Amino acid sequence: MTEKTLVLIKPDAVERNLIGNILIEYERNGLKILDMKLIKASIEVAEKHYAEHKEKPFFSRLVSYLTRSPLVVLILEGENAISRVRSLNGTTDPGKSPDNTIRALYGLSLSENTVHASDSQESADRERAIWFG
Ligand code: PPS
Repeated sequence: MTEKTLVLIKPDAVERNLIGNILIEYERNGLKILDMKLIKASIEVAEKHYAEHKEKPFFSRLVSYLTRSPLVVLILEGENAISRVRSLNGTTDPGKSPDNTIRALYGLSLSENTVHASDSQESADRERAIWFG
């Protein structure tokens, strides 16, 4: 099934000039870039994006991190794009992420883990509306 998913290349990756290295991982795995922008996220947008984590102890850290410098927002399309992109990204904690996943290659820590991708069709629809209106 062809799906569209939303990806963030987060501030820690943009700060370290990793945009190209990360895009190559998606493109060489057959995912098509349908839309892409480099922006500095507002606090309002970051809070909406992470709304389901509002009660978590790390919520304010997440929002500060996402808004501290520019990030890249992508829409990727492909066969089973939602689960495939999550696999390419790896697990939340880069230290535990499988070899050659984007987080294992480039992630710094649990709180600075380089990329985000929608985890379901519902999240993809919600996140596309937040970032692209
Ligand atoms: S949970 O608790 O299972 O719902 O968390 P998870 O889905 O793994 O993570 C939700 C997002 O929060 C980030 N995260 C953290 N940030 C800072 N500190 C800690 N301890 C932490 N744990 C999780 C995690 O990267 C997720 O963000 P995205 O952008 O979706 O990767």
